[in-house]
Amino acid sequence: MSAAAEPFDAAVAESLLAFWTDAGVDAMLLDEAVDRIEAGKFVAPARPAPPALAAVAAPPSRAANASADFGPAVARARELAAAAQDLESLAAAIAAFEGCPLRYEGATKAVVFRGDPKAPLVIIGEGPGADEDAQGLPFVGRAGKLLDRMLAAAGLTDRVLITNTVFWRPPGNRTPTPAEQAICAPFLERIVQLVQPKMLLLAGGASAKSVLKREEGILSLRGRWFEWRSADGSLELPAMPTLHPAFLLRQPGAKKKAWIDLLTLTERLDRPERPL
Ligand code: URA
Repeated sequence: MSAAAEPFDAAVAESLLAFWTDAGVDAMLLDEAVDRIEAGKFVAPARPAPPALAAVAAPPSRAANASADFGPAVARARELAAAAQDLESLAAAIAAFEGCPLRYEGATKAVVFRGDPKAPLVIIGEGPGADEDAQGLPFVGRAGKLLDRMLAAAGLTDRVLITNTVFWRPPGNRTPTPAEQAICAPFLERIVQLVQPKMLLLAGGASAKSVLKREEGILSLRGRWFEWRSADGSLELPAMPTLHPAFLLRQPGAKKKAWIDLLTLTERLDRPERPL
């Protein structure tokens, strides 16, 4: 015997939602992340790319495990990124880009970068969280405040530009999928090309794996130097993965490792002539 459905009461629903919001619940999620690209439910509303660009295959790397056809979205992102001649127009192009499914999963705005447009160091995090989504700037929540304190202690304040592998908040702060990162990658790469930094710091496993196209965990990658190369081969930079500040908030005992990474990087930045 099934219970009769209660009539919908908007006031009750509103009060329940307010209760959940007060309790810190800011997204409705299933237990498993829904990969809308893979499920074939997401059709990027971007304009069709010209034939030469549409033929560009999705990058084979980690993104290869998302079998659905997001190649056109990547191609469109590449086209828009290449057309942007400065960071301001690039940020506007990203904000107008309709090809990333994250945009339609609860994010309120694009979060692109903060910091010095000519910084010698670009820091790449995973993706915006709730505070970043609210303010439209990366790393402004608790993890960002810790990052800022670490940068200040290392003498790096005002010498960094901070961005992420994806530019819209993944719902519930889940890790962005390789497909979402692949779609945003042309924009990220263009940010790096326009800034022309001396090196990259990759905060957390999701950033390190995506940017360096590696499969190892962050505890094995951190503190090591890798060579990052832009897709067109025009730029090569040293890149160091490190632990994500959000992880350090949960595991304060790991701060020492992240601090060593930051000092190693700062040493190379300030004394490039010294042997590694
Ligand atoms: N974590 C990230 O990886 N990026 C942000 O911008 C904020 C938190």
